Amino acid sequence: MHNDEEGKSIGLSYFTERGLRSDTIEKFKLGFCPGDGETFTRIASNTGYKVELLQQLGLTSQYGKDFFRGRVMFPIHSITGKVLGFGGRTLSADKKIPKYINSPETDIYLKSKIVFGIFQARKAITQLEECYLVEGYMDVISLSQSGIENVVASSGTSLTQDQVRLIKRYTPNLTILYDGDSAGVKAALRGLEIALEEGMNVKVVLLPADDDPDTYVQKLGADGFRKYIEDNKKDLIHLKTDLYLEDAKGDPVKVAGIIKDIVQSIAKIPDGITRSLYLKQTARNLNVEEQLLISETNKILRKGAFDKLSTNDKASVEHTEIMPVAKEQPSFTFHLDEAQERDIIRLLLENSNFEIDGENAIARILRNLTDVEFENGIYRKVVDEYRTYYEHNEFLPQVFFINHDDEEIKSLCIDLLQSPYEISDNWIKMHDVPITEKQFLVRKDIVKSISLLKLKKIIKMKHDVDARIQELGKLTDEASIDEVRMCMKESMQLQTIINKLAKDTGTTVLPVVS
Ligand code: UTP
Ligand code: MN
Repeated sequence: MHNDEEGKSIGLSYFTERGLRSDTIEKFKLGFCPGDGETFTRIASNTGYKVELLQQLGLTSQYGKDFFRGRVMFPIHSITGKVLGFGGRTLSADKKIPKYINSPETDIYLKSKIVFGIFQARKAITQLEECYLVEGYMDVISLSQSGIENVVASSGTSLTQDQVRLIKRYTPNLTILYDGDSAGVKAALRGLEIALEEGMNVKVVLLPADDDPDTYVQKLGADGFRKYIEDNKKDLIHLKTDLYLEDAKGDPVKVAGIIKDIVQSIAKIPDGITRSLYLKQTARNLNVEEQLLISETNKILRKGAFDKLSTNDKASVEHTEIMPVAKEQPSFTFHLDEAQERDIIRLLLENSNFEIDGENAIARILRNLTDVEFENGIYRKVVDEYRTYYEHNEFLPQVFFINHDDEEIKSLCIDLLQSPYEISDNWIKMHDVPITEKQFLVRKDIVKSISLLKLKKIIKMKHDVDARIQELGKLTDEASIDEVRMCMKESMQLQTIINKLAKDTGTTVLPVVS
């Protein structure tokens, strides 16, 4: 696009006419596929890319023609900036031609697992502790150019759980900016519920009917746009109440339907405290008894728990007429800090030949990492590779990584093995040892530290659940008694995990006195 006549006069000038600066074009690596339908495939294949591969990736048709011919190109990057696939926009105004075509799903481009713009946005998302979700490629790019950089798009597909989880690695705060038309509202509501289910703190902003974020930020400027967002953010309750209540006009049957609908959504929120705050607010907004909403929610939760049981269990539950009271075995994800992640990679690299308590060190470490999620992309790649081989009972030796095909992995590992051993201060804090004793923290203890980290987190959770039981103990209504039962079951499950972890770490857990 930058060196070729057609590229400059058609591709580059299209982007320029839409107001994009050259730094923006560079930042998103925008491009152009020539219109003759052959140039791309020819150059790519001369450069050494096999035509079969280009075909598999959906860049070249089965007849050897350029799939994206005559389109401006939007690369879709992984979180570490590798290109996974493309969107291509036609320059023709012909309504019969699809505006965008996108790369097909491939081994590397898993559409439901990536959001467009995350590579360019992730720093800003972490800094601002918020992520904006918009609908289009151009929306992301235009906002980013205006200085609003914490923005991604689900690009073409409706938002998925995996996409929400990806965003959640950077911030728990998601703001969905969709069109105010009926399709936009529908999509926003669906996105909202998915994000709520993942435990995100999610808000929706509907834009004026004839605008999208791209046109709107060009009208208002970045500050005006930000202010519009702040002034128009709505949570689930406000959005649904606003949307529907107007429509019901006080008709009690309709209002009842709306309440049921809102409660259904609230029941999907995993965190009990957030759930109860939403219920309180809904009760106030809709002017109904909070208790009523609580017991409606509990009914849904119980039914959810019941539906998850096996047929056998269901029969026995029905037989004894005792409702199941708790969710499935709680599952947790743990996070380490970057230095801790690095320590673990180093530990894996250094110890493939060692044993800890009679078990291969790598196996031991990976077993301890089952519910630990690595956030740093490159470290995660390395761990994933260890994990894949471990599933086949293979423990990768150091040389595997030192000679790795992936240059980034290769140089990371060489670096790690050459630099002096340093230990994340967080391990030290966990052991409550003064920094001067750092050197006494031997490598094996890092494995133990992972368990200790989990243990601390679970103890805190149990403490919270127990506090909730205390608090509910004074209430005698049916809903509270139900919740107490649920909490007690959860508390018992947490205790089981605590006992196991305490044994693993050789820790004595004293009862928490509050
Ligand atoms: P829009 O039509 O709102 O796109 O579709 P846009 O990004 O604002 O593009 P401009 O401003 O007209 O250039 C939103 C998103 O839906 C997907 C694309 O990801 C697009 O960015 N889409 C849209 C498709 O995949 N195919 C289409 O035919 C249209
Ligand atoms: Mn647009």
